[in-house]
Amino acid sequence: GAAPSGDADLAGLRVLVTAGGTREPIDSVRFIGNRSSGRMGFALAEQAARRGAEVTVLAANVALPRAGGVTYRDVETAAELADACAQEFPRCDVLLMAAAVADFRPAAPADTKLKKDAADAPTAIALERTPDVLSALAEQRTPRHTLVGFAAEHGDGALAYARGKLERKRLDAIVVNDISRADIGFDATDNEVTIVTARREQPLARAPKEQIASAILDEVVRMRAAAPS
Ligand code: CTP
Ligand code: CA
Repeated sequence: GAAPSGDADLAGLRVLVTAGGTREPIDSVRFIGNRSSGRMGFALAEQAARRGAEVTVLAANVALPRAGGVTYRDVETAAELADACAQEFPRCDVLLMAAAVADFRPAAPADTKLKKDAADAPTAIALERTPDVLSALAEQRTPRHTLVGFAAEHGDGALAYARGKLERKRLDAIVVNDISRADIGFDATDNEVTIVTARREQPLARAPKEQIASAILDEVVRMRAAAPS
């Protein structure tokens, strides 16, 4: 269950949270983005701080109120998020990778504003893959680290896909939510997720993101107690 308020069970831990969604420039004013609000990541950060952790949030385009006692760093693109993560990861104990990172970005963004009547006005945008930030960090993980990924999946096969990512990305846990459900997930205040670890699948009943965040942190505490570094 959720830790009672004042429970400092995360004291002494450095928690790094990524939140929001990256924006990949098309030109100087336009971008390719996604619908992640940052609510899940910010809820994780607030709950972790409340439980005594030292918390840094890498916020990708999040327009939400910020909690006192939490350090926030703003990033825009997947590349900026990757750089900030590379700086922060070595000194964190727990990484909660809640940000929705673009998988593709425009290969050659224009540095001015594209004009619709220009002779060379584009009819398509060439894309390239972004680096997988989480996989790159997992390559540098030490026994001290706990890595949690987040996956939005559609309906059938969601848990199997998530388990694949857990293994491929060398994670301790992955938090899966089913985005075929319109009322939960992106931009909603409630969420309904399953926490997948190597040992088990733990479905959490639909609840406000604060409560889901607490349950995710409970699982982090359990995993770290089970496998001390
Ligand atoms: N992730 C990342 N860097 C990327 C893409 C994803 O760090 N370029 C992270 C996300 O922050 C998330 C986890 O990987 O914690 C899973 O993201 P998801 O989009 O579900 O997985 P992908 O590997 O991108 O696979 P796909 O989108 O094709 O399902
Ligand atoms: Ca993806």
